[in-house]
Amino acid sequence: MSIHLSPSILAADTMQLGNAVTAVASAGAHSIHVDVMDGHYVANIAFSPKTIDDLRAITHLPLHAHLEVANTPQCIPLFESADLVIVQEDTVADLEAVITQIQNCGARVGVAVNPDRPVKRLAPWLAHLDLVLVMAVEPGFGGQPFRAAVLHKATWLWEERRRLNLHFDIGIDGGVGLQTVGPAAAAGVDCFVAGSAIFSQPFDSGVAAANLTRLGELAIEHSRDDA
Ligand code: DX5
Ligand code: ZN
Repeated sequence: MSIHLSPSILAADTMQLGNAVTAVASAGAHSIHVDVMDGHYVANIAFSPKTIDDLRAITHLPLHAHLEVANTPQCIPLFESADLVIVQEDTVADLEAVITQIQNCGARVGVAVNPDRPVKRLAPWLAHLDLVLVMAVEPGFGGQPFRAAVLHKATWLWEERRRLNLHFDIGIDGGVGLQTVGPAAAAGVDCFVAGSAIFSQPFDSGVAAANLTRLGELAIEHSRDDA
C-alpha cells in the first residue's frame, strides 16, 4: 500500500492559492484537500464550490472536498466537480443514501469520523468507501494539537481492510506534522492530510515543497506493511 499526501489549503495564504497548489503538486502531492465550512456545524467558514472549479483550471491533481457542514445532503450536489467528497458521518442519518448520492454525482466517497465518535458505525459500508478519514482534531480550525488517542481507529480500519480484502484508503486529518506522521503511519494510516505543517505564512514554495517531501519520507519510513 503506497502513501497518499493531501495538503490542506486551509493553511495556505489565500492570496497565493494557485502558487501553493502548484508548489505541492510539483513536490509530489497526490491530491488537494479543500475544507468546506459553514459557520454552523463548525465555528469557521471556508471554501466554496468555486474554489474547486478554480483549482481545477490550474492543477490535474484530484480535488478532495471535505464537507464540514450541517446540511450535508443539500451541499453534495454543489461539489459534484470534486473528485472525492468527504462527509462527516455525524451529520448523516442515512449513510447509504449519501454514499449513493455522491457516487451518482460521479465522485469518489470519503467519510470522516470525529475524535469522540466510534468508527465501527462504518463497518456495514466499508466496501463502498474510497476513504475513511480519522479526525485527529475537532473539525473547524487548522493548527490544533494531534490527538493520538484516535489512532486505534486507524488500526481497526487497517485490520478490517486486510481481513475483508477491501481497498479504501485510511486517512488522518488534523495535527499531522513531523512528530505525528510516523505514529499515524505505524497505526495503519496511508493517506495524510496536512495543512499548517506544509504551508507557512508568508508563502514560500520551497518551504512548502520541502515540508511535503519530509512528511512523505517519514510516512514511508514508518508505514505499516500491508503484505
Ligand atoms: C480541520 C480540517 C483540516 C485542517 C488541518 O477542520 O479538516 O483539514 O486543514 O489543519 P492542520 O494540518 O493545520 O491541523
Ligand atoms: Zn479537512
